[in-house]
Amino acid sequence: MRADIVIGMQWGDEGKGKVVDYLASMYSSVVRYNGGPNAGHTVIADGQSFTFHHIPSGALMRKKLFIAPGMLINPEIFREEIESLKKVVPEFSLKIDIRTSLITPAEVELDKKIEELKGAASIGTTLRGIGPAYSSKALRISPRVSDVLSGKFDASIYKKLYNIEFNFTEWMEEAKETLSNYAFDVREELLRSIENGESILFESAQGTLLDPIYGTYPYVTSSNTTASYAFVSSGIPFKYAGKIIGVLKAYTTRVGKGPMPTEMSENLANFIRESGKEYGATTGRPRRIGWLDLPALRYAKEINGVDELFITKLDVLSGLKELKVALSYSINGKEVERFPPPEDLELVQPVYQSLEPIPKLESGDFSHIVKNGWVSAPFQMKKYIDFIEKNLKTRVSYVSLGAEREMTVKVD
Ligand code: GDP
Ligand code: IMO
Ligand code: MG
Repeated sequence: MRADIVIGMQWGDEGKGKVVDYLASMYSSVVRYNGGPNAGHTVIADGQSFTFHHIPSGALMRKKLFIAPGMLINPEIFREEIESLKKVVPEFSLKIDIRTSLITPAEVELDKKIEELKGAASIGTTLRGIGPAYSSKALRISPRVSDVLSGKFDASIYKKLYNIEFNFTEWMEEAKETLSNYAFDVREELLRSIENGESILFESAQGTLLDPIYGTYPYVTSSNTTASYAFVSSGIPFKYAGKIIGVLKAYTTRVGKGPMPTEMSENLANFIRESGKEYGATTGRPRRIGWLDLPALRYAKEINGVDELFITKLDVLSGLKELKVALSYSINGKEVERFPPPEDLELVQPVYQSLEPIPKLESGDFSHIVKNGWVSAPFQMKKYIDFIEKNLKTRVSYVSLGAEREMTVKVD
Protein backbone atom coordinates (compact mmCIF):
# COMPACT_ATOMS: atom_id res chain seq x y z
CA MET A 1 0.00 0.00 0.00
CA ARG A 2 1.08 3.54 -0.57
CA ALA A 3 0.98 6.56 1.72
CA ASP A 4 -1.11 9.55 0.64
CA ILE A 5 -0.29 13.06 1.85
CA VAL A 6 -2.49 16.03 2.73
CA ILE A 7 -0.67 19.36 2.42
CA GLY A 8 -1.69 23.02 2.68
CA MET A 9 -1.19 25.04 -0.52
CA GLN A 10 -1.35 28.54 1.00
CA TRP A 11 -0.12 30.11 4.28
CA GLY A 12 -1.68 27.51 6.60
CA ASP A 13 -5.20 27.19 8.04
CA GLU A 14 -6.57 25.89 4.74
CA GLY A 15 -8.78 23.43 6.63
CA LYS A 16 -6.33 20.49 6.69
CA GLY A 17 -7.84 19.23 9.97
CA LYS A 18 -11.32 19.03 8.47
CA VAL A 19 -9.97 17.36 5.31
CA VAL A 20 -7.91 14.77 7.21
CA ASP A 21 -10.90 13.90 9.42
CA TYR A 22 -13.09 13.56 6.33
CA LEU A 23 -10.63 11.40 4.37
CA ALA A 24 -9.51 9.34 7.39
CA SER A 25 -12.25 6.75 6.88
CA MET A 26 -10.26 5.48 3.87
CA TYR A 27 -7.03 4.85 5.84
CA SER A 28 -5.80 2.73 8.76
CA SER A 29 -3.44 5.32 10.21
CA VAL A 30 -2.95 9.08 10.25
CA VAL A 31 0.57 10.49 10.74
CA ARG A 32 1.47 14.12 11.59
CA TYR A 33 4.94 14.82 10.25
CA ASN A 34 6.04 18.45 10.69
CA GLY A 35 5.84 21.47 12.97
CA GLY A 36 4.58 21.20 16.50
CA PRO A 37 2.06 23.09 18.62
CA ASN A 38 2.26 26.10 16.30
CA ALA A 39 -0.40 24.17 14.34
CA GLY A 40 -4.10 24.36 15.14
CA HIS A 41 -6.28 21.91 13.17
CA THR A 42 -9.98 22.10 13.94
CA VAL A 43 -12.37 19.20 13.40
CA ILE A 44 -16.12 19.53 13.91
CA ALA A 45 -18.06 16.27 13.82
CA ASP A 46 -20.87 14.47 15.66
CA GLY A 47 -21.68 17.68 17.56
CA GLN A 48 -18.11 17.88 18.89
CA SER A 49 -15.34 20.33 18.07
CA PHE A 50 -11.68 19.70 18.71
CA THR A 51 -8.56 21.67 17.85
CA PHE A 52 -5.46 19.50 17.42
CA HIS A 53 -1.99 20.90 18.03
CA HIS A 54 0.25 17.81 17.97
CA ILE A 55 -2.15 14.89 17.68
CA PRO A 56 -3.21 13.85 14.16
CA SER A 57 -6.71 14.91 13.09
CA GLY A 58 -7.81 11.29 12.56
CA ALA A 59 -8.57 10.92 16.30
CA LEU A 60 -12.34 11.48 16.07
CA MET A 61 -12.46 8.77 13.38
CA ARG A 62 -10.73 6.38 15.83
CA LYS A 63 -7.78 5.82 13.51
CA LYS A 64 -4.30 4.67 14.59
CA LEU A 65 -2.43 7.91 15.26
CA PHE A 66 1.29 8.52 14.89
CA ILE A 67 3.68 11.40 15.45
CA ALA A 68 6.74 11.20 13.17
CA PRO A 69 10.11 12.36 14.57
CA GLY A 70 10.49 15.33 12.22
CA MET A 71 7.89 17.02 14.43
CA LEU A 72 8.49 18.81 17.73
CA ILE A 73 6.59 18.09 20.93
CA ASN A 74 6.07 20.46 23.83
CA PRO A 75 5.32 18.01 26.68
CA GLU A 76 3.20 20.49 28.68
CA ILE A 77 0.97 21.38 25.73
CA PHE A 78 0.88 17.72 24.68
CA ARG A 79 -0.35 16.70 28.15
CA GLU A 80 -3.16 19.27 28.05
CA GLU A 81 -4.11 18.14 24.55
CA ILE A 82 -4.26 14.49 25.63
CA GLU A 83 -6.45 15.37 28.63
CA SER A 84 -8.85 17.41 26.47
CA LEU A 85 -9.02 14.70 23.82
CA LYS A 86 -9.85 12.05 26.42
CA LYS A 87 -13.03 13.99 27.21
CA VAL A 88 -14.10 13.70 23.58
CA VAL A 89 -12.60 10.32 22.66
CA PRO A 90 -12.05 8.31 25.86
CA GLU A 91 -9.78 5.77 24.17
CA PHE A 92 -7.42 6.30 21.29
CA SER A 93 -4.29 4.71 19.87
CA LEU A 94 -1.42 7.22 19.71
CA LYS A 95 2.28 6.55 19.25
CA ILE A 96 5.06 9.12 19.18
CA ASP A 97 8.51 8.35 17.83
CA ILE A 98 11.30 8.11 20.41
CA ARG A 99 13.51 10.28 18.18
CA THR A 100 11.16 13.27 18.33
CA SER A 101 12.81 16.45 19.65
CA LEU A 102 11.21 18.33 22.51
CA ILE A 103 10.51 22.00 23.09
CA THR A 104 11.60 23.20 26.54
CA PRO A 105 10.56 26.40 28.38
CA ALA A 106 13.95 27.85 27.37
CA GLU A 107 13.00 27.77 23.70
CA VAL A 108 9.57 29.26 24.27
CA GLU A 109 11.27 32.10 26.13
CA LEU A 110 13.86 32.47 23.39
CA ASP A 111 11.19 32.72 20.69
CA LYS A 112 9.72 35.68 22.56
CA LYS A 113 13.15 37.29 23.03
CA ILE A 114 14.09 36.95 19.35
CA GLU A 115 10.78 38.46 18.27
CA GLU A 116 11.34 41.38 20.68
CA LEU A 117 14.91 41.89 19.45
CA LYS A 118 13.72 41.91 15.84
CA GLY A 119 11.25 44.70 16.65
CA ALA A 120 9.67 45.97 13.45
CA ALA A 121 11.25 43.06 11.53
CA SER A 122 9.59 40.43 13.74
CA ILE A 123 7.97 37.43 12.00
CA GLY A 124 4.80 37.30 14.09
CA THR A 125 5.50 33.72 15.22
CA THR A 126 3.04 31.74 17.28
CA LEU A 127 5.52 32.10 20.21
CA ARG A 128 5.53 28.33 20.65
CA GLY A 129 9.34 28.09 20.56
CA ILE A 130 9.36 26.45 17.11
CA GLY A 131 12.34 28.29 15.54
CA PRO A 132 14.60 27.97 18.61
CA ALA A 133 13.66 24.30 19.14
CA TYR A 134 14.46 23.30 15.54
CA SER A 135 17.71 25.30 15.96
CA SER A 136 18.58 23.37 19.14
CA LYS A 137 17.98 20.17 17.25
CA ALA A 138 20.31 21.34 14.45
CA LEU A 139 22.86 22.28 17.13
CA ARG A 140 22.46 18.77 18.57
CA ILE A 141 21.90 20.03 22.10
CA SER A 142 18.18 19.52 22.83
CA PRO A 143 16.48 16.51 24.45
CA ARG A 144 14.52 13.94 22.46
CA VAL A 145 11.78 11.65 23.75
CA SER A 146 14.36 8.87 24.22
CA ASP A 147 16.53 11.18 26.37
CA VAL A 148 13.76 11.94 28.86
CA LEU A 149 12.87 8.23 29.00
CA SER A 150 16.45 7.22 29.83
CA GLY A 151 17.03 10.28 32.04
CA LYS A 152 20.58 10.33 30.70
CA PHE A 153 20.64 13.80 29.23
CA ASP A 154 23.47 16.23 29.79
CA ALA A 155 21.84 19.67 29.95
CA SER A 156 24.98 21.64 30.82
CA ILE A 157 25.68 23.13 27.35
CA TYR A 158 22.00 23.88 26.92
CA LYS A 159 21.83 25.75 30.22
CA LYS A 160 25.03 27.73 29.53
CA LEU A 161 24.01 28.69 26.01
CA TYR A 162 20.45 29.76 26.70
CA ASN A 163 21.04 31.07 30.20
CA ILE A 164 17.36 30.78 31.00
CA GLU A 165 16.31 29.69 34.46
CA PHE A 166 14.10 26.68 34.89
CA ASN A 167 14.42 23.41 36.77
CA PHE A 168 15.65 21.06 34.07
CA THR A 169 15.56 17.91 36.22
CA GLU A 170 11.98 18.50 37.25
CA TRP A 171 11.02 19.28 33.65
CA MET A 172 12.65 16.02 32.45
CA GLU A 173 10.75 14.01 35.07
CA GLU A 174 7.41 15.56 34.15
CA ALA A 175 8.10 15.04 30.45
CA LYS A 176 8.90 11.38 31.12
CA GLU A 177 5.63 10.91 32.97
CA THR A 178 3.69 12.53 30.11
CA LEU A 179 5.41 10.80 27.21
CA SER A 180 6.45 7.33 28.35
CA ASN A 181 3.14 5.57 27.59
CA TYR A 182 3.16 6.87 24.03
CA ALA A 183 6.83 6.36 23.05
CA PHE A 184 7.55 3.81 20.31
CA ASP A 185 9.68 3.25 17.23
CA VAL A 186 7.10 4.80 14.90
CA ARG A 187 9.29 4.44 11.81
CA GLU A 188 9.43 0.71 12.20
CA GLU A 189 5.68 0.37 12.88
CA LEU A 190 4.76 2.48 9.87
CA LEU A 191 7.03 0.54 7.54
CA ARG A 192 5.64 -2.81 8.74
CA SER A 193 2.08 -1.58 8.33
CA ILE A 194 2.78 -0.41 4.76
CA GLU A 195 4.42 -3.74 3.97
CA ASN A 196 1.35 -5.50 5.37
CA GLY A 197 -0.90 -3.63 2.96
CA GLU A 198 -2.31 -1.05 5.37
CA SER A 199 -2.99 2.46 4.11
CA ILE A 200 -1.49 5.58 5.65
CA LEU A 201 -2.49 9.22 5.44
CA PHE A 202 0.20 11.81 6.20
CA GLU A 203 -1.06 15.11 7.63
CA SER A 204 1.03 18.22 7.08
CA ALA A 205 0.90 21.27 9.30
CA GLN A 206 1.25 24.87 8.05
CA GLY A 207 1.24 25.55 4.30
CA THR A 208 3.62 25.52 1.34
CA LEU A 209 4.19 29.29 1.45
CA LEU A 210 5.43 28.96 5.06
CA ASP A 211 8.10 26.44 4.04
CA PRO A 212 11.55 27.59 5.25
CA ILE A 213 13.12 26.95 1.82
CA TYR A 214 10.31 27.52 -0.69
CA GLY A 215 8.08 29.87 1.29
CA THR A 216 8.22 33.63 1.75
CA TYR A 217 11.48 33.59 3.74
CA PRO A 218 12.12 34.99 6.34
CA TYR A 219 8.37 35.10 7.08
CA VAL A 220 8.11 31.34 7.32
CA THR A 221 8.07 28.58 9.90
CA SER A 222 11.07 26.38 10.71
CA SER A 223 10.23 22.90 9.42
CA ASN A 224 9.42 21.86 5.87
CA THR A 225 5.77 22.03 4.99
CA THR A 226 5.92 20.24 1.65
CA ALA A 227 4.89 16.69 0.78
CA SER A 228 8.44 15.31 0.46
CA TYR A 229 9.18 16.01 4.11
CA ALA A 230 6.66 13.30 5.08
CA PHE A 231 9.28 10.72 4.05
CA VAL A 232 12.30 12.48 5.56
CA SER A 233 10.41 12.93 8.82
CA SER A 234 8.92 9.44 9.14
CA GLY A 235 11.82 7.44 7.70
CA ILE A 236 9.47 5.75 5.22
CA PRO A 237 11.13 5.27 1.80
CA PHE A 238 9.69 7.64 -0.78
CA LYS A 239 8.96 4.77 -3.15
CA TYR A 240 5.80 4.37 -1.05
CA ALA A 241 4.51 7.83 -1.99
CA GLY A 242 0.88 7.75 -3.09
CA LYS A 243 -1.45 10.63 -3.93
CA ILE A 244 -0.73 14.21 -2.94
CA ILE A 245 -3.93 15.96 -1.88
CA GLY A 246 -3.61 19.76 -1.93
CA VAL A 247 -5.93 21.67 0.40
CA LEU A 248 -6.81 25.26 -0.42
CA LYS A 249 -9.30 27.75 0.85
CA ALA A 250 -11.60 29.38 -1.71
CA TYR A 251 -9.81 32.63 -0.80
CA THR A 252 -6.48 33.38 0.91
CA THR A 253 -5.58 33.95 4.55
CA ARG A 254 -2.36 34.59 6.37
CA VAL A 255 -1.59 35.04 10.05
CA GLY A 256 1.65 36.73 11.00
CA LYS A 257 3.74 39.10 8.91
CA GLY A 258 5.11 38.87 5.37
CA PRO A 259 4.06 39.54 1.81
CA MET A 260 0.54 38.65 0.69
CA PRO A 261 -0.11 40.02 -2.81
CA THR A 262 -3.90 39.62 -2.89
CA GLU A 263 -4.64 41.06 0.57
CA MET A 264 -8.01 42.88 0.56
CA SER A 265 -9.14 46.22 1.84
CA GLU A 266 -10.01 46.04 5.54
CA ASN A 267 -13.76 46.59 4.98
CA LEU A 268 -14.23 43.50 2.86
CA ALA A 269 -11.61 41.53 4.83
CA ASN A 270 -13.56 42.25 7.99
CA PHE A 271 -16.75 40.87 6.49
CA ILE A 272 -15.04 37.61 5.42
CA ARG A 273 -13.13 37.36 8.71
CA GLU A 274 -16.40 37.43 10.64
CA SER A 275 -18.40 35.14 8.36
CA GLY A 276 -15.47 32.71 7.93
CA LYS A 277 -14.44 32.94 11.62
CA GLU A 278 -10.91 33.75 10.51
CA TYR A 279 -9.12 33.89 13.84
CA GLY A 280 -6.03 31.77 14.59
CA ALA A 281 -6.86 28.37 16.12
CA THR A 282 -3.64 28.49 18.20
CA THR A 283 -3.19 32.16 19.03
CA GLY A 284 -6.62 33.72 18.42
CA ARG A 285 -5.02 36.39 16.19
CA PRO A 286 -7.20 37.82 13.40
CA ARG A 287 -6.16 36.32 10.06
CA ARG A 288 -5.33 38.60 7.12
CA ILE A 289 -7.68 38.01 4.18
CA GLY A 290 -7.14 38.10 0.41
CA TRP A 291 -8.59 36.94 -2.89
CA LEU A 292 -7.57 33.59 -4.35
CA ASP A 293 -3.99 33.79 -5.64
CA LEU A 294 -3.44 31.53 -8.66
CA PRO A 295 0.30 32.24 -9.21
CA ALA A 296 0.92 31.19 -5.59
CA LEU A 297 -1.25 28.08 -6.02
CA ARG A 298 0.46 27.05 -9.29
CA TYR A 299 3.78 27.28 -7.43
CA ALA A 300 2.44 25.19 -4.52
CA LYS A 301 1.13 22.63 -6.99
CA GLU A 302 4.58 22.31 -8.59
CA ILE A 303 6.53 22.13 -5.33
CA ASN A 304 4.34 19.36 -3.93
CA GLY A 305 3.32 17.58 -7.14
CA VAL A 306 -0.33 17.93 -6.17
CA ASP A 307 -2.55 15.25 -7.74
CA GLU A 308 -5.94 16.51 -6.63
CA LEU A 309 -7.48 19.51 -4.91
CA PHE A 310 -9.76 19.75 -1.88
CA ILE A 311 -11.28 23.25 -1.76
CA THR A 312 -12.64 24.49 1.58
CA LYS A 313 -14.79 27.39 2.76
CA LEU A 314 -16.57 28.05 -0.54
CA ASP A 315 -19.68 28.83 1.57
CA VAL A 316 -17.91 31.92 2.94
CA LEU A 317 -17.84 33.54 -0.53
CA SER A 318 -21.61 33.31 -0.95
CA GLY A 319 -23.36 36.67 -0.88
CA LEU A 320 -20.26 38.78 -1.67
CA LYS A 321 -21.08 41.53 -4.17
CA GLU A 322 -17.86 40.96 -6.11
CA LEU A 323 -15.69 37.91 -6.69
CA LYS A 324 -12.12 38.23 -7.97
CA VAL A 325 -9.19 35.91 -8.57
CA ALA A 326 -5.55 36.87 -9.20
CA LEU A 327 -4.58 35.27 -12.52
CA SER A 328 -1.05 36.64 -12.71
CA TYR A 329 1.13 39.39 -11.25
CA SER A 330 2.55 42.55 -12.70
CA ILE A 331 6.10 43.52 -11.63
CA ASN A 332 7.23 46.99 -12.74
CA GLY A 333 4.61 46.93 -15.50
CA LYS A 334 5.62 43.47 -16.76
CA GLU A 335 3.10 40.64 -16.44
CA VAL A 336 4.37 37.39 -14.91
CA GLU A 337 2.48 34.20 -14.23
CA ARG A 338 5.08 32.56 -12.01
CA PHE A 339 5.44 33.08 -8.26
CA PRO A 340 8.50 35.30 -7.79
CA PRO A 341 11.19 35.06 -5.06
CA PRO A 342 10.24 36.75 -1.75
CA GLU A 343 12.20 39.95 -2.46
CA ASP A 344 10.15 40.57 -5.64
CA LEU A 345 6.92 39.52 -3.99
CA GLU A 346 6.81 42.82 -2.12
CA LEU A 347 6.70 44.60 -5.52
CA VAL A 348 4.02 42.62 -7.33
CA GLN A 349 0.58 43.89 -8.25
CA PRO A 350 -2.01 41.16 -8.77
CA VAL A 351 -3.76 41.07 -12.13
CA TYR A 352 -7.36 40.17 -11.31
CA GLN A 353 -10.15 38.56 -13.24
CA SER A 354 -13.68 39.15 -11.99
CA LEU A 355 -16.05 36.21 -11.86
CA GLU A 356 -19.79 36.06 -11.35
CA PRO A 357 -20.52 36.47 -7.62
CA ILE A 358 -22.04 33.52 -5.78
CA PRO A 359 -25.59 34.34 -4.59
CA LYS A 360 -26.34 34.50 -0.87
CA LEU A 361 -27.24 31.03 0.36
CA GLU A 362 -28.57 29.99 3.76
CA SER A 363 -27.36 26.96 5.70
CA GLY A 364 -30.32 24.93 4.41
CA ASP A 365 -29.19 25.64 0.84
CA PHE A 366 -25.71 24.29 1.55
CA SER A 367 -27.21 21.16 3.15
CA HIS A 368 -29.36 20.76 0.04
CA ILE A 369 -26.24 20.79 -2.17
CA VAL A 370 -24.50 18.25 0.06
CA LYS A 371 -27.56 16.01 -0.02
CA ASN A 372 -28.26 16.28 -3.75
CA GLY A 373 -24.71 16.37 -5.00
CA TRP A 374 -22.47 18.89 -6.74
CA VAL A 375 -24.79 18.91 -9.75
CA SER A 376 -27.32 20.80 -7.61
CA ALA A 377 -24.90 23.65 -6.74
CA PRO A 378 -25.63 27.12 -8.21
CA PHE A 379 -23.92 27.61 -11.58
CA GLN A 380 -21.77 30.48 -10.24
CA MET A 381 -20.22 28.09 -7.69
CA LYS A 382 -19.58 25.46 -10.32
CA LYS A 383 -18.00 28.09 -12.59
CA TYR A 384 -15.68 29.21 -9.80
CA ILE A 385 -14.50 25.65 -9.14
CA ASP A 386 -14.15 24.91 -12.90
CA PHE A 387 -12.09 28.07 -13.26
CA ILE A 388 -9.66 26.95 -10.52
CA GLU A 389 -9.49 23.43 -11.93
CA LYS A 390 -8.64 24.69 -15.45
CA ASN A 391 -6.11 27.24 -14.26
CA LEU A 392 -4.27 24.86 -11.99
CA LYS A 393 -4.68 21.98 -14.46
CA THR A 394 -5.56 19.79 -11.50
CA ARG A 395 -8.73 17.89 -10.66
CA VAL A 396 -10.91 19.19 -7.82
CA SER A 397 -12.13 16.12 -5.90
CA TYR A 398 -14.06 17.69 -3.04
CA VAL A 399 -15.56 21.02 -2.07
CA SER A 400 -16.26 21.89 1.55
CA LEU A 401 -19.32 24.04 2.29
CA GLY A 402 -19.17 24.21 6.08
CA ALA A 403 -16.97 23.41 9.06
CA GLU A 404 -18.81 20.20 9.99
CA ARG A 405 -17.63 16.86 8.64
CA GLU A 406 -20.83 16.21 6.69
CA MET A 407 -20.70 19.55 4.87
CA THR A 408 -18.48 18.13 2.15
CA VAL A 409 -19.44 17.36 -1.42
CA LYS A 410 -17.66 15.20 -3.97
CA VAL A 411 -17.10 16.90 -7.33
CA ASP A 412 -17.81 14.49 -10.19
P1 GDP B 1 -5.94 23.93 9.36
O1 GDP B 1 -4.90 24.51 10.23
O2 GDP B 1 -5.53 23.85 7.93
O3 GDP B 1 -6.44 22.59 9.87
O4 GDP B 1 -7.19 24.91 9.42
P2 GDP B 1 -7.82 25.56 10.76
O5 GDP B 1 -8.54 24.51 11.49
O6 GDP B 1 -6.77 26.33 11.49
O7 GDP B 1 -8.77 26.65 10.12
C1 GDP B 1 -9.85 26.30 9.32
C2 GDP B 1 -11.14 26.78 10.00
O8 GDP B 1 -12.20 26.76 9.09
C3 GDP B 1 -11.58 25.88 11.15
O9 GDP B 1 -12.22 26.67 12.11
C4 GDP B 1 -12.57 24.92 10.50
O10 GDP B 1 -13.54 24.42 11.43
C5 GDP B 1 -13.21 25.84 9.49
N1 GDP B 1 -13.64 25.20 8.24
C6 GDP B 1 -13.08 24.18 7.55
N2 GDP B 1 -13.72 23.96 6.39
C7 GDP B 1 -14.72 24.87 6.33
C8 GDP B 1 -15.72 25.18 5.34
O11 GDP B 1 -15.81 24.58 4.27
N3 GDP B 1 -16.56 26.21 5.64
C9 GDP B 1 -16.49 26.91 6.79
N4 GDP B 1 -17.34 27.92 6.98
N5 GDP B 1 -15.56 26.65 7.75
C10 GDP B 1 -14.68 25.65 7.50
P1 IMO C 1 -1.64 25.23 10.71
O1 IMO C 1 -1.04 23.85 10.74
C1 IMO C 1 -1.02 29.48 9.96
C2 IMO C 1 2.94 31.09 10.93
C3 IMO C 1 3.00 32.08 12.07
C4 IMO C 1 4.17 32.95 11.60
C5 IMO C 1 5.11 31.93 10.97
C6 IMO C 1 6.22 31.44 11.91
O2 IMO C 1 -2.72 25.45 11.69
O3 IMO C 1 -2.00 25.60 9.31
P2 IMO C 1 6.22 29.79 13.99
O4 IMO C 1 5.49 29.86 15.28
O5 IMO C 1 5.95 28.55 13.21
O6 IMO C 1 7.69 30.04 14.14
O7 IMO C 1 5.64 31.04 13.15
O8 IMO C 1 4.30 30.82 10.60
N1 IMO C 1 2.31 29.79 11.27
C7 IMO C 1 1.08 29.45 10.89
N2 IMO C 1 0.13 30.14 10.22
N3 IMO C 1 -1.25 28.20 10.31
C8 IMO C 1 -0.31 27.48 10.96
O9 IMO C 1 -0.43 26.16 11.21
C9 IMO C 1 0.92 28.12 11.32
N4 IMO C 1 2.02 27.72 11.97
C10 IMO C 1 2.88 28.75 11.93
O10 IMO C 1 1.81 32.81 12.18
O11 IMO C 1 3.73 33.80 10.57
MG1 MG D 1 -4.68 26.05 11.64
